[in-house]
Amino acid sequence: MKKPVTVAITGAGGNIGYAIAFRIAAGNLFGPDQPVNLHLIEIEPVLPALTGVVMELNDCAFPTLNKIVPTADFSTGFGDADYIFLIGSRPRGKGMERQDLLSANGAIFKPTGRAISENAAKDVRVLVVGNPANTNALIALHNAPNLQPNQITSMMRLDHNRTISMLAEKVSKHSSAIKNVTVWGNHSTTQFPDLQHCTVNGQKAHDLIDMNWYRNEFIERVQNRGAEIIEARGASSAASAASAAIDHMRDWVHGSDGDSWVSMGTYSTGSYGITSELMYSFPTHCSNREFKTITDLELDDFSREMIALSEKELIKERDMIRWLLCE
Ligand code: LMR
Repeated sequence: MKKPVTVAITGAGGNIGYAIAFRIAAGNLFGPDQPVNLHLIEIEPVLPALTGVVMELNDCAFPTLNKIVPTADFSTGFGDADYIFLIGSRPRGKGMERQDLLSANGAIFKPTGRAISENAAKDVRVLVVGNPANTNALIALHNAPNLQPNQITSMMRLDHNRTISMLAEKVSKHSSAIKNVTVWGNHSTTQFPDLQHCTVNGQKAHDLIDMNWYRNEFIERVQNRGAEIIEARGASSAASAASAAIDHMRDWVHGSDGDSWVSMGTYSTGSYGITSELMYSFPTHCSNREFKTITDLELDDFSREMIALSEKELIKERDMIRWLLCE
């Protein structure tokens, strides 16, 4: 039997946490022969409810689940973690401005970054899902002196998957026919779902769609899909977000499809002229726990304009929480 890997999940008692814990325990992320320790992290008031989740996980008798540690203590929760999903974050409350939301989450992600740095495995891989995910990831990274920028990413895979599925529906093809979608920038309404290099069964997507539909309907629909789901369900996306988080981490660990790429929020080093030191989503290749930005795509004027808009928003977010970025 392989040595167990340890996966820590914050916000484990929330809706996304509830969906992801069972899939990871069932072997959906690391495969059927890899035992997993689950560290389920929650705030104190949620711990009683979390005991119910632990009971249910045990009741599944998953062959791949080795051990469960429910805790409100960061050092226990992140202790020796090989993989971390940062899902818990403060949702926007009534009357809360973006600045308030950023600051409230900053207060969570600063100690989170420090605790990961001090307690997790040296080569830990961290995915930030909790919103505003890009800027939360930036705060965690800046407060984790033992981590390199290639160890923390933010989730854009939900947007990436949404782009694929909406295009598949439009062109009446299966989603597996679609390659090389990129969702650039921030996980917000400034994100840019880009089809310039996308192919459908090897054909250029741009040749199959009406560009007016693309520019005036499609982009906005993807950008606002989270709100559309909240409107329909009365609650934020949960199972699709959990699924996207697993896709993101699985590709990071085991490698993305060789002839396509994925969208990941990563620490910008200036590719495509995007300001350095922002968590920005780029087209990305992964293999064997590493990722690499694809840096040589030609972008048309429209795309350049769109990626700059999301960059502008992320700079604004970073400037609002700059005081949280220093150690
Ligand atoms: C989503 O994209 O579904 C969520 O990030 C939306 C939200 O605001 O919770």
